Amino acid sequence: MWDASNTSERLVEAGAFVSRDLDLAGFTTLRVGGPAPVVAECSTTESLVEVVRLLDAESVPTLLIAGGSNLVIGDDGWDGVVVRIANSGVRLDADVIAAEAGAVWDDVVAGTVEAGLGGLECLSGIPGSAGATPVQNVGAYGVEVGTVLHRVRLLDRVTGEVRWVGPDELGLGYRTSVLKHSDAALVLEVELQVSPDGASAPIRYRELTATLGVSEGVRVPAAQAREAVLALRRGKGMVLDSTDHDTWSAGSFFTNPVVPAARAEEVLAAIRSRLGDVAVPTYPADGGVKLSAGWLIERAGFTKGFPGADAPARLSTKHTLALTNRGAASAKDLTELARTVRDGVEDAFGVRLSPEPVTVGCEI
Ligand code: EPU
Repeated sequence: MWDASNTSERLVEAGAFVSRDLDLAGFTTLRVGGPAPVVAECSTTESLVEVVRLLDAESVPTLLIAGGSNLVIGDDGWDGVVVRIANSGVRLDADVIAAEAGAVWDDVVAGTVEAGLGGLECLSGIPGSAGATPVQNVGAYGVEVGTVLHRVRLLDRVTGEVRWVGPDELGLGYRTSVLKHSDAALVLEVELQVSPDGASAPIRYRELTATLGVSEGVRVPAAQAREAVLALRRGKGMVLDSTDHDTWSAGSFFTNPVVPAARAEEVLAAIRSRLGDVAVPTYPADGGVKLSAGWLIERAGFTKGFPGADAPARLSTKHTLALTNRGAASAKDLTELARTVRDGVEDAFGVRLSPEPVTVGCEI
């Protein structure tokens, strides 16, 4: 059994800034989650490595939090040490940008665009930290981090070693990698490939080609693409704004479901039998067809703002795929809403949605 006072002293010696008895709601964009007895903030990579090695060596239950934008923490909080990943250095080396794990992701993107570098602009406005981006292969508006990732520096929590790994070792897929739902390694730093000509990645997402008035595959000045992406995201409540409860969310709460080819006809038939002959948004995917979770949620009867104005946890009034805290929601409120939506979609269409955020001390 670990001792909070004794552990705190040693965490300070290892370079952490230690706080006691904090509420974790303030560490997540959903703003839910109970207390933790010890929070160790690590603002350098060295202290982060030393602190996590120390905690692992003594088997202290450790929860790592960076931007907290893809995290649902239960109302009982965390009975162990919370390590805040707060190393935030960023440097440019030729056409590779290196960001420490705790750097604010959108600051990294904005910095590249301002420096006349292209490649990251479609990933503008995404909440959270740089180190989290490879973990679930963050993607938006036609670009995934995996396609621009140069390498990742990891702390191997089994051996205690620090090493660089390339994207091919990370098992990157749609919103997933070997790092997700695993405590085996901690991201310390990421390196991303940028393009010195200042042009964006080829614009592929339909909504973005329409906004920019270009045809698919065209590259535009990175700054122009960034502005367009930010405007689209704002319209969906997907850019953090503390005054707008539609943004008190974990972004998309469910991944877009991939239905295996063998089941696709059956699912499309279930959709048509309920909705009539509608145009169902589908996207090509490995081994099957990807459907739009937001569309399925809305068509299953969970419209924007569900279940209504008095509920503490509601669907965003701008996008059905975001579950939001209207100010006083608990993790219980949120997970109940998530279950209602997931089960309702399954009943209506036979498709079971999977949550995208990591859950800690609660389940959906
Ligand atoms: N739709 C609705 N109702 C809504 C919202 C969307 O019916 O309230 C339907 C529409 O048909 C729309 C379609 O869903 O055309 C797709 O919506 P959107 O373009 O917003 O994309 P998404 O699939 O819901 C994904 C990512 C987002 C990313 C956007 C843009 C996932 C789970 N989500 O959302 O990522 O920003 O595409 O690329 O893949 C995140 O992962 O947290 C996230 C925000």
